[in-house]
Amino acid sequence: MNLQQYLLDKFKQAVAAIGAPADTPLPLSRSTRPEFGHYQFNGAMALAKALKLPPRDVAQRIIDHLSLSHEVDKLEIAGPGFINIHLCASWLAQLLGDAAADARLGIEQDATKTVVVDYSSPNLAKEMHVGHLRSTIIGDAVAKTLEFKGHKVIRQNHMGDWGTQFGMLLAHLNDKLAAQQVAETALSDLEDFYREAKVRFDNEEGFADRARDYVVKLQSGDPQCLQLWQNFISVSVTHSEEVYQKLNVSLGRQDIMGESAYNPDLATVVEQLKATGIAQEDQGAQVVFLPELADKDGNPAVYIIQKSGGGYLYATTDLAAIRYRNHVLGADRTLIFTDARQALHFKQTELVARKAGFLKPEQSYEHCPFGMMLGKDGRPFKTRSGTTVKLADLLDEAIERATQLINQRDSELSQDERLSIAAKVGIGAVKYADLSKNRTTDYVFNWDSMLSFEGNTAPYLQYAYTRIQSIFRKTAALDNTAGLLLNEPQEQLLALKILQCDEALQLVVQEATPHVLCAYLYDLASLFMSFYEACPILKEGIATDIKNSRLQLANMTAKTLSLGLELLGIATLEKM
Ligand code: ARG
Repeated sequence: MNLQQYLLDKFKQAVAAIGAPADTPLPLSRSTRPEFGHYQFNGAMALAKALKLPPRDVAQRIIDHLSLSHEVDKLEIAGPGFINIHLCASWLAQLLGDAAADARLGIEQDATKTVVVDYSSPNLAKEMHVGHLRSTIIGDAVAKTLEFKGHKVIRQNHMGDWGTQFGMLLAHLNDKLAAQQVAETALSDLEDFYREAKVRFDNEEGFADRARDYVVKLQSGDPQCLQLWQNFISVSVTHSEEVYQKLNVSLGRQDIMGESAYNPDLATVVEQLKATGIAQEDQGAQVVFLPELADKDGNPAVYIIQKSGGGYLYATTDLAAIRYRNHVLGADRTLIFTDARQALHFKQTELVARKAGFLKPEQSYEHCPFGMMLGKDGRPFKTRSGTTVKLADLLDEAIERATQLINQRDSELSQDERLSIAAKVGIGAVKYADLSKNRTTDYVFNWDSMLSFEGNTAPYLQYAYTRIQSIFRKTAALDNTAGLLLNEPQEQLLALKILQCDEALQLVVQEATPHVLCAYLYDLASLFMSFYEACPILKEGIATDIKNSRLQLANMTAKTLSLGLELLGIATLEKM
């Protein structure tokens, strides 16, 4: 159950009963300090104006009309008219008992929507680099959370597998194959391959012309050229799949819907926009003028959909993708994860698509931007020599560093166990460090802080989980039917936190912000640690009913941690 939503519904009824207008805002939030109760309603002050009554009187009237006798201990009016809500421990115990008996931990499913999630989407001409890390893991966490909340998620890996840069790559590949090389070997390092092709393109007599020739041939569907292209794409896709596997993300071949897939639709898109008068010719190109996004002198933004030579653009493909996602996939929502520099492109694309009716009014188109990953110097993250960091190398380094860390800790783990733990801790650390930051801001990539066992990190959460598992290794089976006794404040706070998981997931689903889930899990683990310190479980002399209740709390904490980490794509461990 979503606690906040439950209370909100009650306040809605009460506020209606005292004659408030139907659109009255209902600001109800978690309290920031224990003395303000568990939740706080701050709507009485605004209502006072509408009802022409003193705010504290309004608050009192709301309280008089609230049917929460079973749920709350106390409702008190504070300051100018805040209503502090103190929930009742027995109600929390009852809710937690219900949640414990439920395979979904009491977390509700939303009314199903079809949600297209466009993420990762690397350009296949090059190797995946750190810039693709953010899109891949943030998109994946949001996709998994949406699914868990009951939505139909359609993953779309909008890979950049088309366009003029393929001309030079194919010309170069052709020569390598002619020289008896195998495609896999020639393309084993895409970065090098790209660089070589570029050097030839810039310097070698006649090569640029051949490259352009290849572009024309590719676009007209020349079979030999398509074969070459297919060869290139397949090697490059295999490279990205290796990264996906290491990263433990849920993208597969079936999710690939690259730019090339829209090639046959591009002419239709342009035709339609021309026929409806939305696009017009300008200096030989087909463009849409957007007065809505005019510059400060009043000149409309120019959105090009076809170049003067007839070539199509990234934008044209995105319009075709919108049509496909609307007509064929039936998307209610589309979420696209790219870095913030593409914000204007998506704003313009949405505007054009809405004018053209490619998007219905009730369909949303949500660009979910993210900031940059920075080095310690505050500049974009690069290798020592200043080149882009390959994602595969970064992940190998993470595992290596985690191995050293695990080896420093003394424990009876075997070598194999250590290796498997190191992989989970290393990859988990990299992913969590990214996911736990508000995605819209830049962040500094720092090995030491992400691999620390203290603070809001993956190792801290993974460790908290193993700590609970070790309790269960020391005791007999858990009594699932045992009643919950929430006498100590730490027990109450922990129970409440467990019950707030749904609220966190709801926000992740609405705002596409996994950091909310991370913050929640960190709070949960921290509350567990304080509970565990204050409320011994296996100590001699603890009454059986209390012990069982505490074991239930520990068990629900572990289950919630494991669910949350799973939705973030981070592995849990039994020991570490
Ligand atoms: N391939 C693009 C890039 O690497 C991202 C594509 C995002 N999706 C889209 N529908 N445009 O920047």
